[in-house]
Amino acid sequence: MAGKFITLEGGEGTGKSTQAPRLAAHLEGAGHTVCITREPGGAPGAEAIRELLVTGDPGRWDAAAETLLHYAARRSHLTETIRPALARGEWVVCDRFADSTLAYQGYVGGVDKGFISEIHARVAGDLTPDLTLILDLPPEVGLARAQARGEGEDRYERMGLDFHQRLRAAFLEIAAKEPERCMVVDADGDIETVAARIKKAVEDRLEV
Ligand code: TMP
Repeated sequence: MAGKFITLEGGEGTGKSTQAPRLAAHLEGAGHTVCITREPGGAPGAEAIRELLVTGDPGRWDAAAETLLHYAARRSHLTETIRPALARGEWVVCDRFADSTLAYQGYVGGVDKGFISEIHARVAGDLTPDLTLILDLPPEVGLARAQARGEGEDRYERMGLDFHQRLRAAFLEIAAKEPERCMVVDADGDIETVAARIKKAVEDRLEV
């Protein structure tokens, strides 16, 4: 049976990284072999680029250069991890993918969306996620979560509420433009509640 490609998207602190392994476990329980992966990263060369992107001074690149770095990482990730897994018939659960570039670098960072879509076509060709779950959360709730955890709080606050609001609006616009591929999932709630919403969304859209 052919594998499926599921991406999880959303702003900072929306719980993607907590939910991705839960979704993977659910799919494994349904009998699928699952490749769980993330961006930036998911292959050795791509993880090295991630290291560059997420540590150190964020002002080293402008948003267009950042776009190119994300696409360099994505190319390795697609070639070494995602395409081979799909070819083996596995289900791929990916924590962030191309919509993150469109939202962060395009909508919020101001990079021309035509430029992003041209690079995307070159790198990803016609590979599109079968389903994209956009985890949606009011930024105030994300901030409260970050504060409760006592970690990542600085990073969250440093970006500013306006940034988080623009990001949220960007993801919602992406979802509205591609309703067949995207589903918005309310990420406000405890881990189990959100996991149940994700499970239902996947079962509504795909034959699990
Ligand atoms: P993470 O914290 O969800 O692992 O993501 C790392 C950061 O990279 C996060 O702030 C979002 C950002 N990012 C982009 O700006 N563009 C992209 O294309 C991707 C995949 C992530």
